[in-house]
Formats: sequence, C-alpha cells, structure tokens
Amino acid sequence: MQKVTSVSELRDTIAKWRSAGKHIAFVPTMGNLHAGHLQLVGEAGKKADRVVVSIFVNPTQFGVGEDFETYPRTECEDQEKLATAGADLLFLPPVSEMYVPDAKTIVSVVGLSELYCGASRPGHFNGVATVVCKLFNMVQPDIALFGLKDFQQLVVIRTMVRDLDFPVEIVGVDTVREASGLAMSSRNGYLSVEEIKVAPKLYESLCMARDAILTGDRPYADIENRAMLFLREAGFQPDYFAVCRSTDLSKAQIEDRDLVILAAAKLGRTRLIDNVYFSR
Ligand code: PAF
Repeated sequence: MQKVTSVSELRDTIAKWRSAGKHIAFVPTMGNLHAGHLQLVGEAGKKADRVVVSIFVNPTQFGVGEDFETYPRTECEDQEKLATAGADLLFLPPVSEMYVPDAKTIVSVVGLSELYCGASRPGHFNGVATVVCKLFNMVQPDIALFGLKDFQQLVVIRTMVRDLDFPVEIVGVDTVREASGLAMSSRNGYLSVEEIKVAPKLYESLCMARDAILTGDRPYADIENRAMLFLREAGFQPDYFAVCRSTDLSKAQIEDRDLVILAAAKLGRTRLIDNVYFSR
C-alpha cells in the first residue's frame, strides 16, 4: 500500500491509474479504524480496480466543546489494517493540505443538515459535506463507499452528489455490529466497562420499534415516545428517536413503505447513534 500526504502526490498516482483505464473506489475515514471501516475497504475492492482510503480528522465537522482534540489518532495501527484489507493508496493529509487559512466556501445541504444530529451539532453536516466535496475533487473516484450507520450523513452526501452533479456513485454499506448488537464506532472506545453493558440497548430500542411497526402498531409518535422512555430508564439521555422516510428523512407518514428509524443518545459523556432501515 502506497501512502501520500499531499494532494499533488495523490493526483499523480491516480492519474497514472486513470490513464491505465483503472476504475477507482474511495473510502473516506477519520481513522481509528474498526471492522466497519474494513468492511467498506473490502467492498470497495470488489467494485473497483484500485482502492483509495483517506484518513483525516476533519476539524470543521466538530463543534465547540466536542472531541476534536481527543479524537483517537491511531495511524500506525490503521495503516497495517488497511494494507491487510487490500487498500492500494492511503491519503493522510495534514490540516494545512486540506484547508487554506482564509477558505471562504462551504457546502451546505440545506434543510437535511439541520435535522436530527444536525440540530444537536450545528454546522456538523456543513463540515462533512465540505470536506467530502473537497476529497471527491482531489480523488475523483468512480465510486465512494460510506457506512449506513451514519445514515443521515449518507443521505446528506447522496443529496450533495445529486444536486452538484458529481460523477460519483455512492454506495452505502451495512453496519457492522458487536455480538451484543452495539454498532461499531470509533467512539465506543470512550465507554466505561459498565456503559458497554448498557450501550446495546440503543439497538434493542430500535429493533423493538421496528417490530412494533411491522406488527401494525401506530401511531409512530407513540412508538417514538415509548422508545425515549425505554432509553431514559436504561440510563441514556436520549437526543432523538424518529421514524422517518428513508429517502429524504422526512417524518414517516402512514402510507410510506421504506422507513428508517434514527436514534441518538448520550451514555455518560459518549454520544451514540444508530438506526434500523426496513420496508413494510
Ligand atoms: O464518517 C466519517 O468518518 C466522516 O464524517 C467522513 C465522511 C470521513 C468525513 O470527514
């Protein structure tokens, strides 16, 4: 696996592959890689001739008081994992390579970025959309893969790609879970031994809500309220629990068939998110 830190080296390598007719897949990450990321790399390898992975802890998607400074940076381990998973090129830029100090442009997927996680983390999705837009311009991949665990992020990126005519196919890859059901996340490392035992209840609450909907339980607002109560009683501070239409994340109506239930909750100091998507 080749490693580059500058945009010019990245472009040189990719230009050679392009002129040899290679199909390029891209997996953007913030590092601290777990089995979920490696699944993205594995899927990318099945869909393209070359796999590019970026590791960049993007400062613009962290709010004031969030964990940008303490976000785990595990570059050596990450590089070994990526080489084993079959990545061809790792792009590891410093902040100065990604942002000029007087940058004036942001990409904002208006409306979608203010819902759910965007309501609790103002500016977060503008940071994500802007950095993903920049990375797409740097790598110019044929396809890009994102985890379905960050469902809202995926919908934001799909919308940006549609609205700005990026010639990139966006592929969502299933969430990888611990045996307990807990969705793998770089932030799970913040959980204490006691919290690790409680954390799977977030997924449990989503599965219970999905099963209730599939057995005809209505209205959705009651199901959401019950789930919020369940989470509070389990020791979480729930942020939101919402039954949505999976295409645009608007509140699900009774006639909608393709649904996603999105949830976010704090456990101690750790903010966890998860979702289940299904058709009824
Ligand atoms: O999902 C992530 O790790 C990040 O939000 C992403 C897409 C790499 C952008 O920084």
